[in-house]
Amino acid sequence: MNNLVDNTSVIDIRGLKKRFGLGDAEHYAIDGLDLRVNKGEFIAIMGPSGCGKTTLLNIIALLDIATSGDYFINGTDVSKLSSAKRARQRAKHIGFVFQDFNLINNMNVIENVALPLTYSGVRGTKRLETASKMLANFHLHEREYYMPSQLSGGQSQRVAIARALVTNPSLILADEPTGNLDSKASHIIMEELSDIHKRGNTIIMVTHNPDLTAYADRVITMLDGTIDTDTKDIGKEKKTTKKRPLNKLKAASKKKKQSTKPPKESVK
Ligand SMILES: Nc1ncnc2c1ncn2[C@@H]1O[C@H](COP(=O)(O)OP(=O)(O)OP(=O)(O)O)[C@@H](O)[C@H]1O
Ligand SMILES: [Mg+2]
Repeated sequence: MNNLVDNTSVIDIRGLKKRFGLGDAEHYAIDGLDLRVNKGEFIAIMGPSGCGKTTLLNIIALLDIATSGDYFINGTDVSKLSSAKRARQRAKHIGFVFQDFNLINNMNVIENVALPLTYSGVRGTKRLETASKMLANFHLHEREYYMPSQLSGGQSQRVAIARALVTNPSLILADEPTGNLDSKASHIIMEELSDIHKRGNTIIMVTHNPDLTAYADRVITMLDGTIDTDTKDIGKEKKTTKKRPLNKLKAASKKKKQSTKPPKESVK
């Protein structure tokens, strides 16, 4: 277990639902999901295509709004904010890393990294100074004045990670950050994320690659818009919780009261 984890919830989500479509096309991409994330955790989210991973990440990032449910960031209720207030909360708390990097092509590297500081109200020279320091951390100092088109995929993603971190957010979200990279560049990006985690940052990463879950200390699998399994490293052990519908949970808890045996769902 990462000893930087403490019990302060960065994220607390309860009964989250997201509906898309109308009439016959109506369906729930997120269908009653609860999630609590503690400071310093590195969570990998997996699950089949269409199970709702990106939808969940976009809601956590305040890029999308849930249909119903509660969402708290660092104890603040952010579920019902106006779009201007959501943007402010996003700038304050969240760094997002996209699969396709999302760098702005007509801005150079340092301008891309400095951009989130504009939304946080930092002044011009200070913005460039801070961005420059952040790029130095990623050994990209000499590429400050390159344009995104002059970078390799791996370098672009490292610039995107530097941009995500420049505001010192409490939460870093990454949707398949290595999805467009070869295995060598993927490894470098994962080492960067791992390093950022070790420095005390909280990370939630969506991935299709089971090998990459080795970098995380908690692995969540999703199915049909809910959490299916949730596995945490506890010391050297792993503890998996199988999430079940409420009626089955009640039946299980009755059984548990009658039996002194440990519950079957706490395994590994
Ligand atoms: N803007 C939208 N309008 C309508 N349906 C949507 C929209 N965005 C997502 N969906 C649907 O919601 C469900 C979940 O999609 P989502 O993109 O979150 O899945 P995912 O787990 O990220 O999949 P993948 O692994 O392919 O990226 C899918 O059925 C998808 O078609
Ligand atoms: Mg997705």
